Amino acid sequence: MSQSIPRRTFLEFLGAGTIGFALAPSLLSACREAVPNDQTISKILGIKPSSEDQVILAPGLDYQVLVSWNDPINQQDRFGFNNDYTAFIPDPDNPRAGLLWVNHEYVHPMFVSQYTEGEKTREQVDEEMYHVGGSIVRIQQEEDGQWVLVEGAPENRRINGHTMLPFNWPETIQGSTEAMGTLANCSGGVTPWGTILTCEENYDQFYGERNLETGEWDRSMAHLGWTNFYNNPPEHYGWVVEIDPKTGKGQKHVALGRCSHECATMHQLADGRVVVYTGDDANDECLYKFISSKPGSLAEGTLYVANIEEGRWISLNWEEQTILQEHFQSQTEVLTYLRKAARLVGGSQLDRPEDIEIDPITGDVLVALTNNKPKENYFGSILKLSEAKGQHDALLFQADTYLAGGAETGFACPDNMAFDPAGNLWFTSDMSGSAMNQGVYASFKNNGLFVVPRSGEQAGEVIQMASAPSDAEFTGPFFVADGQTLFLSVQHPGETSKDLRNLSSHWPLGGSEMPRPSVIAIRGATLDTLWG
Ligand code: FEO
Ligand code: CA
Ligand code: CA
Repeated sequence: MSQSIPRRTFLEFLGAGTIGFALAPSLLSACREAVPNDQTISKILGIKPSSEDQVILAPGLDYQVLVSWNDPINQQDRFGFNNDYTAFIPDPDNPRAGLLWVNHEYVHPMFVSQYTEGEKTREQVDEEMYHVGGSIVRIQQEEDGQWVLVEGAPENRRINGHTMLPFNWPETIQGSTEAMGTLANCSGGVTPWGTILTCEENYDQFYGERNLETGEWDRSMAHLGWTNFYNNPPEHYGWVVEIDPKTGKGQKHVALGRCSHECATMHQLADGRVVVYTGDDANDECLYKFISSKPGSLAEGTLYVANIEEGRWISLNWEEQTILQEHFQSQTEVLTYLRKAARLVGGSQLDRPEDIEIDPITGDVLVALTNNKPKENYFGSILKLSEAKGQHDALLFQADTYLAGGAETGFACPDNMAFDPAGNLWFTSDMSGSAMNQGVYASFKNNGLFVVPRSGEQAGEVIQMASAPSDAEFTGPFFVADGQTLFLSVQHPGETSKDLRNLSSHWPLGGSEMPRPSVIAIRGATLDTLWG
């Protein structure tokens, strides 16, 4: 049986409880334009898990491929590899046109540089460096609803492994005021002033890591061989990077600390100061929160680490913490070797904290905890933090499990999340390519996209809305403000392919084509139904 909620009631619900939801007025006006007055909510039909090499969508949804790896974006630049986070910044005067930012997390050498074995050449390394970082592309929606990339638009550009980016910090980092390139760009966030935060996650795979105590630079995990040609210090990576999509100018924000940042989720306080939540995606790593001391600053403020058991945020300020003074020379050193500092002050070790979203209705902070296989947590969960008195600059909170993965709920390994305009929670799953469709993950089949309706008779249910192609992971879900388009990355299809003649995926072109990571745009009546 389906339950109908009059559209007016639903909009009142959206308006009444909104906390810190700056987009609400424009969304409401967009709603009025976009949906007929008699629109009602009916039952949402999901799909069963699938192991097909296709993007399979729930009834009432459709998709188009917007842009794929290696597509030209202007005369000299091409779209990068393994697209992850997406963010759409609409033009002030036209919500159906604007700039799309897309992260490019890492490369598969066989596809990107045609490297298979032996010594990698400098040309191959340079090609790989070109395909990480991010892309800025102008897009617009045509009369028929299809989105198109405006090839050659003046804003179209690549930020990549060679782009020089300054540190936003008064001291040098490993002797330099700037870094060569950004890489491992996983998820991210949007600032209230319309710039992008792109997060450097598994940086040690590119330039290794240094042991603070011994000073030894361990290159063993830097499996791509870039260090044979570029002597870039590991300390130049693992930061939150801000990019202005209009100009392409960027900077690395040292005050937010250095770790395997999955995302950076920002909230602006009433007085203009900002709060940024960010997780360190590795087994037994921590959750952080930066609170600025000045409006709009990502340099001046304090970084905190969460102690979940005690429900408090612990300062990582060197001047306040004797134990940090005993182990580190300076605040710069604390921020550069953040994991060690977080452990010393009592940060909770979590099960791979990945994406973070702030519930637009309740203000609760949701954190995807993907899994922790060594601790036999295979399916992960979503953690809910409720800040004291609903204030994001509070130093106390309550924590609870919001949703647990497993056979009962039908999903495993939650990763990226997004709220649609009505506050329905969407999230993607990230079972690794080598693990899915077997063992404890067999019943979940390929990775998927799920929704948890906020209201109606299906409220709280976990409904699978899409299934990804072979080996792929959906990443970077991002709703356009009118809620009628969901941008989604399809990352690493076919990544377990043994060689170019034995491909495990041919998505999206099919036939015998190479797989191509791509951004898709999902639309359809079911989106309208969920929020209309
Ligand atoms: Fe790049 Fe934690 O996913
Ligand atoms: Ca991720
Ligand atoms: Ca992931």
